[in-house]
Formats: sequence, structure tokens, C-alpha cells
Amino acid sequence: MTAPLAFQTHAGVLADLQADVGIVGRLKGDGALPGPVGDALSQRLLEVAREDRFNGRAGRLLLWHAPDGAFPCRRYLLMGLGSREDITLERYRRDLGDAFVEADRLGAASVAVPLLHDDRLAFAPGEAARALAEAALLGTYRFDRYRSEPRPGRRHLKEIRVALGAFPAKGAASGIAWGERASTAVNLARDLVNEPPGILTPPRLAEIAEEQAKAAGIEFEVFGPAALKKMGMGGILGVSQGSHQEPRLVRLQYRPKGKPDRKVAVIGKGLTFDSGGLSLKTSEGMETMKCDMAGSAAVLATLTALGDLGCRSEVTGLMGLAENMPGGEAIRPGDVLRIMNGKTVEVRNTDAEGRLVLADCLSYVSKIDGLEAAVDLATLTGACVVALGPMAAGLMTNHQPLADDLLRSAAAAGEAVWQLPLYQEYREHIKSDVADIKNTGIRWGGAITAALFLQEFVRDGLPWAHLDIAGPAFGEKEYSYLGKGGSGAGVRTLLRWLAPPPA
Ligand code: BES
Ligand code: MN
Ligand code: ZN
Repeated sequence: MTAPLAFQTHAGVLADLQADVGIVGRLKGDGALPGPVGDALSQRLLEVAREDRFNGRAGRLLLWHAPDGAFPCRRYLLMGLGSREDITLERYRRDLGDAFVEADRLGAASVAVPLLHDDRLAFAPGEAARALAEAALLGTYRFDRYRSEPRPGRRHLKEIRVALGAFPAKGAASGIAWGERASTAVNLARDLVNEPPGILTPPRLAEIAEEQAKAAGIEFEVFGPAALKKMGMGGILGVSQGSHQEPRLVRLQYRPKGKPDRKVAVIGKGLTFDSGGLSLKTSEGMETMKCDMAGSAAVLATLTALGDLGCRSEVTGLMGLAENMPGGEAIRPGDVLRIMNGKTVEVRNTDAEGRLVLADCLSYVSKIDGLEAAVDLATLTGACVVALGPMAAGLMTNHQPLADDLLRSAAAAGEAVWQLPLYQEYREHIKSDVADIKNTGIRWGGAITAALFLQEFVRDGLPWAHLDIAGPAFGEKEYSYLGKGGSGAGVRTLLRWLAPPPA
């Protein structure tokens, strides 16, 4: 939705490149500017920094208008990177993202920037190239489809020229390409989350999934109410009973060329709106509940990028799409639903609907022959946000090696994911007097009881991990380049896990 951005790489230093704005980082307390900047320009900018008492504190920006003809860019934007010890790739991404937005605000159509490489930094230039592309595409993303006036971000900005110094062009280009492709996927997820819920209904999201699958060359299959009934999916059907919108289950299938390394499934909660149902939310509680399909948006976005990123796994993507509304046919507290795997659930709270939908999805993937791992993503519980705050996703698992893989991928991707325990003792809390289990536990440890509920529908022996993305899926406050609104949480982690970039 946001205008495209083109990247160009150039051998040589920043001082060789012409652009509307040149962006240069400054590490706090460092006597030199990092990356291939060029001696004369470097010196001049350090003088400017000294004069203006710009020491490189993280997040600070300083604009310098170069005298006519002095250097190829009319303006240079100094960007504080904080101290060398504290800088991480994720921090670099954020600072750079902010600088790109500032350049756009200044009306720049093109910017020039050096590729950060420096033996004394903790990340390799290939990683810096990926981060640069991600910072640019994620940082300048805007959802302006419904605004009369677009906001700064990518209003003007069209081109990013990267000075590579002596770094090989091929390595830089492939790093940038990986970052570009991954960011495009993240931004697709963000677009879907940001779309109004009256427009992005389950049938509409299924249609978009079909278009996207076609474009990406992956298999697509959709199940409507009749097919869901045949398969015995009482969870997803039950949840959608109170809505005029029909539910959909979407299956996407990515197959690599040749023999796949492994066979895995990713599953996304896809509540296009969650009013709570008869256990109605407060007005405030539902203000952002269009984001309740963020898990399935992440699944779709991830699947569309696997081919381009050279994924070697066979991947099933499942999107459980429904709307939770309190219509006359809505499920009631006290109703009993039968999930696809035969287990019965007493509905105690119709607002604990995500787990009912996911129960059917997990039962479905549990039947896939030879499946080696399943990962679900869901905006599942407010309790997870209470535990970890809005930035981090909670990870729960029945298989530690899978969790370790995902945690590593998340860390490399720059996404905050924190593991929570899956105390089996708490299964006590979801025992029902009338059915096999009930859909709510006690007040405490709600993220864990929700995961324990899901575990009931994962076949024995199937490595499974659950990512509760209720916190990070939707920004109510700006966290630098991810901004407000849909964040695409989980996409970068999944892509790292399924299609790791070359080292
Ligand atoms: N979609 C919500 C969880 C949520 C909360 C997502 C805040 C994003 C931000 C989920 O369906 C829900 O309502 N969960 C209930 C469960 C409770 C009734 C056991 C909750 O967390 O309050
Ligand atoms: Mn709910
Ligand atoms: Zn929900």
C-alpha cells in the first residue's frame, strides 16, 4: 500500500554519492564515524557535531546543510547511535528507521547511507545490509489508505543509495534483498491487521489469501461452513454462530523444489473481530479488536515469502477465520462444543474464543502425516500482556528444542519473544463438570491455562509451540519503526526459522 522503495548499492564511500539527504551514524564517544563515509566528509561532520554538541546519544538527529558544492548531498543527517557497547542490530534498525522518516519529512526523494561495517561492532555487514533494508521498509511504512493526507514516511522517499566501501556488492545485494522480501511480508501482515473489521471479514480475508497464494505460487484450499461441519469443527463453527459472517478455514501449502528438509505447520488465530460475544467486552476492550486476526495475517504473510527466500521445508499454513459477535444465534456460557478431535468443551466465557478456533486447527494439523512440528500464533490472552507488557510475545511449548530454535530466530530477527512455563499442574483449572474441559481457568496465569487448553488438541508426540502475540501484534504506542497499529508480529521470527538467510 505504501509506495515502493528502490535500493542501489555503490562501491566506495558516502562522500561519492549524490542524494537529497545523506544519513550518517555517530557512535557516542567515538572519534570516527562508522561505515565508509570518506575522510573529508567525516572530518567536516565531526566538526559540525562538536559545534552543535551532538555527541551521538541514541535517538538524536542533527541536520547539517552543506555549503554549495562542498559535498554531493546538500544536506546530511547525523543520527545518534548510542555507545558502541550498547548498540544492537535491532537498535540500529530503529535509529535508522527514524532517520529515514525524518529524511522523508524533509522532502527527500533519495537518501544516501553507508553500510555499517566495522570489525568492532557485534554484527556482520551482511546482517547490517538486511537491517538497513528492514529499517527502511518497516520504518517508513504507513497505513494511509483511508486518509485524505498521507503522513511522512514514504511520501517523498523513493530511493536509497548505499555506500558499500570495500564490502562485496554481491553480499550486500543479497542481504538487502532478503531484508526487502521479509519486510514486504511484514508490511502485508500490517496492512491486513490495519484494515477495518467491517471490510476484512472472514470470507474477504480468505479471498485475499487466495489472491496472495496465487501470486506466490503456493497451494490454496478453503473450507466454508458445510465443509467445516463435515470435518466436525465445532469450535470454529460455534464461535461464528453469533455473527452474520461465515467462518473460513484456509489451508496454504508451500512445497520447496526437490526433497523437503522437514515438514512443519504454522497456524494463525484469525478472529477478524472479537467483540467478546455474549461475554461482551467493554467498549474500550474492543477498540483494537480488529487486530485479533494478526496470527493468521502473520501466517499468510510468511507463506507468501517462503519461495523467494529459498525455504527448504514443506510448510502448511492454516488460518482459522471467524468473527466473534453476540448475535441471537451466539453460543452461550454453558454451551458445549465438540472439537474436531472429538473432545468436548464447556464454554464458560464466550470471549475465550480464540482457543476454540485454534482447537480445531490444531486437531487438523495433528492429522497431517509425517508432520514434524507445529507452531501457532495467536492474540490469545490479555494475561500474556499483563505478564510481559506490550512488546513481547509469550512462547509456550511441549518441546524445548523447538522453543530454543524459535527463540534464536526471534532474537536474530529483532523480535521480543519470552518463554513462559507450561505448568501441567494448572490443567486442574480447566477441568469441567459437564464436558471434557472448559474454556477458561482461574484468574491467575491466564496465558498458561490458555496454552494448556490448546495442548489438549495437539497429538501426542508432535513438537508444538504456541506464540501468544496479544501484546506485540498491535501498537497502541509507537515503538520506533514499528509505529502504531498492526506490527506484523511473528513474521520475521517465522521467516528466520523457516528460511534462515545465508550466514
Ligand atoms: N483477543 C483476546 C485477547 C487479547 C487481549 C488480544 C488484548 C489483544 C489484546 C481474547 O480472545 C480474549 O478475549 N481473551 C480473554 C480470555 C479470558 C476471557 C479467559 C482475555 O484475555 O481477557
Ligand atoms: Mn476474546
Ligand atoms: Zn480474541
